[in-house]
Amino acid sequence: MLYNMPTKLYYGKNIISQHKDEMICGEKALIVTGKNSAKITGALDDVISVLNEFKIPYVHYDEIGENPTYDMILKGRDICLKNECDFVIAIGGGSPMDAGKAIAVLTANPDLIPDDLFDNNNYDVSLPIVAVPTTAGTGSEVTEYAVLTKPNGRKSGFKSNLIFPDVSFLDPIYMLKMNKNLTLTTAVDALSHAVEGLLSKKSTPISNILARESIELIYRYLPKTLEDLENVEYREKLAIASTLAGMVIAQTGTILPHSLGYRITIHKGIRHGQATAIFLPLIAKEVKKENPKKVETLEKIFGTLDNFEIFLKKIGTYNFNIVFTEEELELFSEEVMNSSHIKNTPGNYDKNKIKEMYKKIAKI
Ligand SMILES: [Fe+2]
Repeated sequence: MLYNMPTKLYYGKNIISQHKDEMICGEKALIVTGKNSAKITGALDDVISVLNEFKIPYVHYDEIGENPTYDMILKGRDICLKNECDFVIAIGGGSPMDAGKAIAVLTANPDLIPDDLFDNNNYDVSLPIVAVPTTAGTGSEVTEYAVLTKPNGRKSGFKSNLIFPDVSFLDPIYMLKMNKNLTLTTAVDALSHAVEGLLSKKSTPISNILARESIELIYRYLPKTLEDLENVEYREKLAIASTLAGMVIAQTGTILPHSLGYRITIHKGIRHGQATAIFLPLIAKEVKKENPKKVETLEKIFGTLDNFEIFLKKIGTYNFNIVFTEEELELFSEEVMNSSHIKNTPGNYDKNKIKEMYKKIAKI
């Protein structure tokens, strides 16, 4: 068994101001964000004030949208190279953090194209990466993964030890501004990471402990948070849950629900966490057929797997309507069967079973 999570993680309220010097990983920073979240949460101001205090020049690239594309990361790489930035500070949800990771590798290896990122034998160096999450879901602040959207529209993750952030600052205060929908969709992404980690063939005794704690925290505090969005105590619990779940997938990777969900996000516009979590009970039931021990923790927490589904329904995870054409079902099931997620998912799967899963989701 290996437990590998080399990121230095600082956690707590106003944590950046208490460990300012740790943020300085070079002589000129590229700050990578989306259009809004880094600004409205106060995280960007906190980062800039530290850089100003240490007289570290910076360039701010704020064009990362949801599900980052090759164009977005190539533009970031060009800005980083042109301005000779030597470290990256990524602020936001999973998209800016994942884009920041890709930009850090592409800048350190200017001859690479984005497709080269997916084979980590192509590079052995990256710029240092600092991560400041403003949502509680992705866990990207403690993982060696980054998910990009390829020009053909497929979402795909790349993995390298080099993209574990060097340092991450997890401050629940930045999460107080998330609206109800974003709170839900990001939290159920974290829940998916923890549950998939438990079910995965790659689960370990340590990842299982982290996963169990993460799931319990989300079970207890997500419904409360959805009713009281500005409660910083609840936000703290979800922030820890999400980072624990990130530490889980740093060991286990994700399994089938993520692969199933990617298609719905890209083709139906359903947010990542929600698109993934809707498949958790279905996959848990399949896993139970092969290995009942794998679902014992879930059954302890929720009572039964049906109760797990009821919990997800109650908090609004299934509140959408989608329909699929036969062509879509054919394409999605083909892509899912070819995805890497399937090999670490206990159970037996074929195209028809995958199609049935999509049909069940469409009916809800
Ligand atoms: Fe995810």
